[in-house]
Amino acid sequence: MAKLGVNIDHVATLRQARGTKYPDPLSAALIAEKGGADQITVHLREDRRHIQDFDVRLLRKTVQTELNLEMALSKEIVTFALDIKPNLVTLVPEKRKELTTEGGLDVKKHRKALADLVPSFQKAGIRVSLFINPDVEDVILSHELKVDAIEIHTGAYAEQNRDEDRARELERIRMAAKKGKELDLWVAAGHGLHYTNTQAVTQIKEIVEFNIGHSIIARAVFVGLEQAVREMKALLS
Ligand code: PXP
Repeated sequence: MAKLGVNIDHVATLRQARGTKYPDPLSAALIAEKGGADQITVHLREDRRHIQDFDVRLLRKTVQTELNLEMALSKEIVTFALDIKPNLVTLVPEKRKELTTEGGLDVKKHRKALADLVPSFQKAGIRVSLFINPDVEDVILSHELKVDAIEIHTGAYAEQNRDEDRARELERIRMAAKKGKELDLWVAAGHGLHYTNTQAVTQIKEIVEFNIGHSIIARAVFVGLEQAVREMKALLS
């Protein structure tokens, strides 16, 4: 059964919208773990629009499972991550104006920076994952960079409205996942996955971890967070 990383950024989005102390991402992490989350994922964005530095520091001390810190290739955040030492960092592209992470990391363009960065994390005992498009060439480049894991961006799949387009995107994910497994990489996937489009992706057995946020937090509004996580876990089994 694939692992579930629950992304709790949107709990912080709600808090930041009013500048209140609630809802608290830390409490969300503990409830998500109670519901069966195998990992807590947060994205510390350069503009700090949701998760704040103090959230990550508290989560580091409290999360019982694993802490996955999504982050851009920013010097300031790299220094922060090396200090905090999450179990895993997932390197993502970041644009200030985007609503959410659009597209995977341009591995080719950032090859040099990544070649320096990946070992510095690994030497600090932090596993490294690259958030990449479902592209076999990017999987090969990631492997050459000796990362521990890749996370395949499922956003393009999730955005399709027609069955044939969805099938085409799913096939791209399948090919990328297959190549990742062949190269002995830990293969995760995520972005835009919800309670009706996730099951098809779980058929790709090479994918051993899913990071899901928005749909779980949205469902939690109606059924509570623990139940929302439980339901998503059930879909992964
Ligand atoms: N994985 C990565 C690398 C992400 O950047 C995000 C969004 O922050 C997710 C997974 C979760 O995406 P969603 O909120 O659409 O489930």
